[in-house]
Amino acid sequence: MDLRAGFVVILLCLMGLTCADPVKYIDCGSSSGKVTIVDINPCATQPCQLHKGQSYSVNVTFNSAVVSKTSKALVHGVIAGVPIPFPIPIQDGCESGIKCPIQKQEGYCYVNALPVKTEYPAIKLVVEWELKDDNNQDLFCIKFPVQIVN
Ligand SMILES: *[C@@H]1O[C@H](CO)[C@@H](O)[C@H](O)[C@H]1NC(C)=O
Repeated sequence: MDLRAGFVVILLCLMGLTCADPVKYIDCGSSSGKVTIVDINPCATQPCQLHKGQSYSVNVTFNSAVVSKTSKALVHGVIAGVPIPFPIPIQDGCESGIKCPIQKQEGYCYVNALPVKTEYPAIKLVVEWELKDDNNQDLFCIKFPVQIVN
């Protein structure tokens, strides 16, 4: 990339257009692991704007503190403090970029799709995403705000 192209990229990033920053998240009790990066694509601004009818990719990089044969994802949308189950197409973490059995002290990237249905209301909410191990403990539990838009 030449200097001028680099400058344009930086400028676009500053304007929040093309540059995907890691998502700011809150750890809600990852007792069986440690999260390092959360990425949502595309997400140019924060909170991420999720357009109805589109699908977004979620990539959670974490380290496991346990051995686990299975992993199961649970997603909730928290609206006014109330967690509402949010269906995702693939619940099995072992089919979402993770090679199972999960090993202790290994790094993993959990990658899944977040489909935003057209019938969802256009509101701000908090997404809570958990990945459970064999003992129903959280390999990760993250929360991040999103805004559903038309
Ligand atoms: C997920 O994020 C990690 C860390 O940024 C990256 O190394 C990996 O390539 C990403 N995976 C996908 C499928 O985007």
